[in-house]
Amino acid sequence: MDKKLVIANWKMNIPNEGIDHFLKSVIPEITDLQYVQPGICPPYLFIPKLFELLDNSSVLLGAQNLHYEDNGAFTGEISAQLLKTYCSLVIIGHSERRRLFHETDEEISRKIQTATQCNLTPILCVGENITERKNNLSNKIVTSQLITGLSKINNFNKLIVAYEPLWAIGSGNAATPNDIELMVKVIRQVITERFGIESQNSVRIIYGGSVSENNITKIITLPNMDGVLVGNASLDPLQYSNIVKNIETIIT
Ligand code: 13P
Repeated sequence: MDKKLVIANWKMNIPNEGIDHFLKSVIPEITDLQYVQPGICPPYLFIPKLFELLDNSSVLLGAQNLHYEDNGAFTGEISAQLLKTYCSLVIIGHSERRRLFHETDEEISRKIQTATQCNLTPILCVGENITERKNNLSNKIVTSQLITGLSKINNFNKLIVAYEPLWAIGSGNAATPNDIELMVKVIRQVITERFGIESQNSVRIIYGGSVSENNITKIITLPNMDGVLVGNASLDPLQYSNIVKNIETIIT
């Protein structure tokens, strides 16, 4: 059985007490677990520091974005070629990037392609906003994000898809287990129908949006749920390690 993923997305934040304190309190709690694979995606600036501090731990290190070109005149951007020295994961197409930085599905597909070519595991984020949800467009939106986002790869072995409904992110109210279960089914179905059975089996699907130590049990015990992508709660060492430890206990 694959370990459950608990990926911290720190966004443009670092933990309140600082990175050293965070890692000092968290690492002993989350290393070498039997059923959980933790990971941390800090702001770019802190990636080399975490790379050193996480050395010899089993915690994965990831980035929050990349540019699809290998190098060139792209001021302010960072390539997979540069990231792969330090990272094994990369978040792609987060809703904040789609919404605030106008990333399109086509650009996201190029990023997924580049990440895969550079041996980085992409975490493709998909999800609908509140208006789309109210208009019963959730399945349609997520399906089209998947079909275009994954259109340039044929190796799905390492792919992770994160269902992150925009209305749940940062709201304190996670999607209901029922909503999540239904969407995980849709995602698996789209991947099977569009890209073949093999890809369906190798792709891991995780959930993000107000995940906390209080709701993790209900989320992680859903059928075919491979893990979580955690924003706010991942900045608090106690919350983050409780999420990880809860999963380890439940799965045991
Ligand atoms: P929150 O856990 O703060 O809702 O953020 C979720 C998220 O966007 C993770 O990528």
